[in-house]
Amino acid sequence: MNRDLGQKIYVAGHRGMVGSAIVRNLEAQGYQNIITKTHAQLDLTNQSAVSQFFAAEKPDQVYLAAAKVGGIHANNTFPAEFIYQNLMMEANVIHQAFEHGVKKLLFLGSSCIYPKLASQPMAESALLTGTLEPTNEPYAIAKIAGIKLCESYNRQYGISHGLDYRSVMPTNLYGPGDNYYPENSHVIPALIRKFHEAKVNQAPEVVIWGTGTPMREFLYVDDMAAASVFVMDLDKSTYDQHTAPMQSHINVGFGSDITIAQLAATVGKVVGYQGQIVYDPSKPDGTLRKWMDSGRLNRLGWKAQIKFDEGLALAYQDFLRMNQ
Ligand SMILES: NC(=O)c1ccc[n+]([C@@H]2O[C@H](COP(=O)([O-])OP(=O)(O)OC[C@H]3O[C@@H](n4cnc5c(N)ncnc54)[C@H](OP(=O)(O)O)[C@@H]3O)[C@@H](O)[C@H]2O)c1
Repeated sequence: MNRDLGQKIYVAGHRGMVGSAIVRNLEAQGYQNIITKTHAQLDLTNQSAVSQFFAAEKPDQVYLAAAKVGGIHANNTFPAEFIYQNLMMEANVIHQAFEHGVKKLLFLGSSCIYPKLASQPMAESALLTGTLEPTNEPYAIAKIAGIKLCESYNRQYGISHGLDYRSVMPTNLYGPGDNYYPENSHVIPALIRKFHEAKVNQAPEVVIWGTGTPMREFLYVDDMAAASVFVMDLDKSTYDQHTAPMQSHINVGFGSDITIAQLAATVGKVVGYQGQIVYDPSKPDGTLRKWMDSGRLNRLGWKAQIKFDEGLALAYQDFLRMNQ
């Protein structure tokens, strides 16, 4: 492990779900020199603003957790914004980090970089082996470009400039800071809201779309932050042994997946809902399975710590706090 608690660390996207968890983790570990800027203070799509920021701050490390993120509807409606803004943020931050002497950077990607029909669990080697899911292809292409930016800068400047830019690909995340708006939330916050409202209204049943049989993997966001700091702090020789220059990204998953029916039952229990859970098979199931192969990260010595029901209980507390 390479730990210097006095290093100046820039967390981009610190008000987001993942960025805020990274800041919590770094602070808990004793890192004392963390710098942040809100979107209003620094628009990362603005090249000259990003250049001025790096020139003024000269951080030692960068966590790139800022991104334009959204669900299927937003991705389908605003594909130009998703590809443009994410490409610009990545290109600006990674290039300006290089220009201003940042040796270490961690880029946050997503499991949507893998082909729609990748075999399960999805290993890092599945990248660029097939066609992407069309609904979020522009976003996925931008995320793949982020990985390739890190790799290309390492390959060209790694030895001459001591550059070491890494990337991690999280599975579905949940926890504090999640988006609970019904129109565009992910499955866990959507179910938390649904079961909570059913409990409050004493509804006799909660209807879940589809058959309940598709399988999904979920990781608590503080585990994701812990994995991010773990990967950033890994010795270069250890990291190099487990990655390749043109296949350097590392999956971060919980390690196992559950059915939507198991998920619904657990959310119902955590929320304290007493009624029936009913499935509506006339509604689409979506992809049957989406599960990351986290073997590379496990072999490096990290695995998820927060059990699913514990994480859900914490997420429900967060929902209650947000909706007081
Ligand atoms: N949440 C998940 O389940 C999940 C799963 C896999 C991967 N990830 C990845 O993790 C990363 C972070 O996701 P998240 O869930 O934390 O997203 P989030 O909650 O939406 O946070 C993203 C942050 O980026 C900031 N941002 C967006 N555009 C910006 C710009 N032009 N300039 C400066 N800041 C900007 C946002 O600020 P404003 O809100 O002020 O715009 C926000 O604070 C993303 O790369 C995402 O792909 C997330």
